[in-house]
Amino acid sequence: MSTLDDLKEAFAGESQANRRYLAYGAKAAEEGFPGVARLFRAVAAAETIHAHAHLKAMDGVASTQANLADAMAGEKHEFTEMYPPMVARAEAEGNRKAARSMRFALAVEKVHYELFEKALAALAAGTDLAALIVRVCPVCGHTVIGDAPDACPVCGCKGDRFDEIA
Ligand SMILES: [Fe+2]
Ligand SMILES: [Fe+2]
Repeated sequence: MSTLDDLKEAFAGESQANRRYLAYGAKAAEEGFPGVARLFRAVAAAETIHAHAHLKAMDGVASTQANLADAMAGEKHEFTEMYPPMVARAEAEGNRKAARSMRFALAVEKVHYELFEKALAALAAGTDLAALIVRVCPVCGHTVIGDAPDACPVCGCKGDRFDEIA
């Protein structure tokens, strides 16, 4: 083990804790414990600070152009190599919940790849996506520029439930 390995492990752990605590916080709010929900959100925010510090300590944040290229490679890996066998395995095992969540992610990572590609092209042309309005499906994560569709093409969720990202 090297310090780089340690940073990678710590980054993964803190990143997962962030998402887990946000989910726990939502559950606490649902169960009528707003104080506990706030505590989970606060600790989740702190875990993000730790995760970002670890990522920076391993020089994991480059220029925006390089970051977009890295993000594209990651999304492509997910929809070409990672998710297809995972979906097949979940279906073979009859795990419908897992097959559904993975199918949704697989479909949306392709969209993410294309959006990052668009952003990279904008940067190459000397512009930005400054006027970008972008919305995300709360069920499957489908990501659209501009108006939401009547229904999500990935999961069927109603378009008026899409969240506009600030
Ligand atoms: Fe993605
Ligand atoms: Fe969706």
